[in-house]
Amino acid sequence: MIKTNYLIIGSGVAGLTFAIKIAEQFPNKKITIITKSNAGESNTKYAQGGIAIVTDKIEDSYQKHIEDTLICGDGLCNEEVVKMVVTEGPKRLKELIEWGAKFDKNTKGTLDLGKEGGHSENRVVHHKDQTGQEIQRAILDQVSHKENITVLDHYFALDLITDNNCCYGAYALNEKTNEILTYKSDFTLLATGGIGHLYGHTTNPIIATGDGIAMAYRAHATIKDMEFIQFHPTALYENKSGSSSFLISEAVRGFGAYLRTKNGHRFMLDYDSRGDLASRDIVSQSIDLELKKSGDDCVYLDCTHLNLEEFMKHFPMIYKRCKNVGIDIAKDWIPVVPAQHYLCGGIVVDKNGKTSIDNLFACGECSQTGLHGANRLASNSLLEALVYSDKIYEYLAHQPINESNSKITVSDWERIEKPMIDPKYISEFKSKLQLLMRQNAGIVRNDADLLKAKDQLSKWQIEIDSICRNYQITKASYELKNMIAIGTLIVQQSIERNENRGGFVKINI
Ligand code: FAD
Ligand code: SIN
Repeated sequence: MIKTNYLIIGSGVAGLTFAIKIAEQFPNKKITIITKSNAGESNTKYAQGGIAIVTDKIEDSYQKHIEDTLICGDGLCNEEVVKMVVTEGPKRLKELIEWGAKFDKNTKGTLDLGKEGGHSENRVVHHKDQTGQEIQRAILDQVSHKENITVLDHYFALDLITDNNCCYGAYALNEKTNEILTYKSDFTLLATGGIGHLYGHTTNPIIATGDGIAMAYRAHATIKDMEFIQFHPTALYENKSGSSSFLISEAVRGFGAYLRTKNGHRFMLDYDSRGDLASRDIVSQSIDLELKKSGDDCVYLDCTHLNLEEFMKHFPMIYKRCKNVGIDIAKDWIPVVPAQHYLCGGIVVDKNGKTSIDNLFACGECSQTGLHGANRLASNSLLEALVYSDKIYEYLAHQPINESNSKITVSDWERIEKPMIDPKYISEFKSKLQLLMRQNAGIVRNDADLLKAKDQLSKWQIEIDSICRNYQITKASYELKNMIAIGTLIVQQSIERNENRGGFVKINI
């Protein structure tokens, strides 16, 4: 049993920024971060476009950012939350800059602001097309200088320890030694990110398997809005399966690129007056319809009319990746398709990031704050994580550590020698799950397919529970258990929703 004051599960922007602040506030308290891959591996690392923040108070305003967020969320955002998050943006940006993160500037020496779908103004602060990598670098560097933070990489959190609706820590598998350890904590933060690999075809890295949400669900926390899966319109089409798709940032369309069908038609103008810069839900749904009409495998992003030198300056990683797969963006159109990208719902939290379980907090993509409603506005996710990690810190900075919690007895994970399951069996099981989710819970759903998926998922739930009971626990088997739980939540909440909003479309014939 290991005792820590603050247990943080996840080392993306949400977990790390909270860790930095709480470590500074309480230099004598112990902060433990457990993370299932290398500490630098997260959705955060792959963020391209940037962070939506109102920094230009002449052309832009908080009110415009608030309105864009509300329009995008299609009537389901919590307006108070939207106001709070938008207006706190500049303070959180200042902090990131103080921690050493660098953002691009223009020739006037002010921040270079990009534009993305659904934004009425240029307001996306960025570091070329590698904003996430730059943020992750800067905050990891800060964490490495805090003596009271311990980062445990390749530790996989299995389940929360709860009793009487209060959280006392978590069990974690040390992947290097295969031991299951008990972490007893005064406060626990879930910062475990997204769910992309439940769909297989996703922009997310392989760590995104919904673990935190599944753990919270098993502990009976409130989980909401799981039907609002965001599909990014422009993932590079490479005709391969099983690995993450490379994202072509929406900022490329903000820079002037056009979407075209194979025949060259600029179809987005047929669907929305904002054309290529309509919000993400509308662009993805329009591409889906075009592909169903034409039978084509992909649509195209045309950058051939853009200034190549400027393009390479703004999007060096995208330029290089396209070149590596034989696409010369000066001459060729980039083949693109929608791919799972983000989860708008998750573990319900209040304005202090508190879940429905005492002493358990959630932040970032695994949480549901009310900011995104039915569809997240581009580049509002990093912003949300920054604002909420600060809110949780502010709240906990004034919360005494309850000494009586230390007296609670927590049992260790019961471990007896069990056989190993064939890893191939688990990976084939995972592929079947991914196919089921793509076919039955994709961009456009219907009740008949959802009910079929629900039935299959409940059978798979029984099977995976039996695997986890009868074989040695592995990261892969537990991730699969989590993904089946997340799939069940998505399917069930999709069945329950009878009104199409934002990223959710159900058509029953
Ligand atoms: P993550 O950054 O995903 O971190 C989750 C952490 O939890 C990881 O360290 C992971 O290893 C760990 N973890 C998960 N499960 C366990 C477990 N069981 N045990 C231990 N550790 C665990 N948003 C924007 O606002 N702007 C953008 O430009 C942008 N671009 C994007 C581009 C791409 C390609 C992707 C994939 C996302 C993008 N997003 C963008 C979304 C944004 O990056 C994420 O929503 C955000 O970074 C999530 O941060 P997080 O800290 O909540 O989770
Ligand atoms: C992108 O760069 O297109 C992704 C932005 C986001 O997901 O917010």
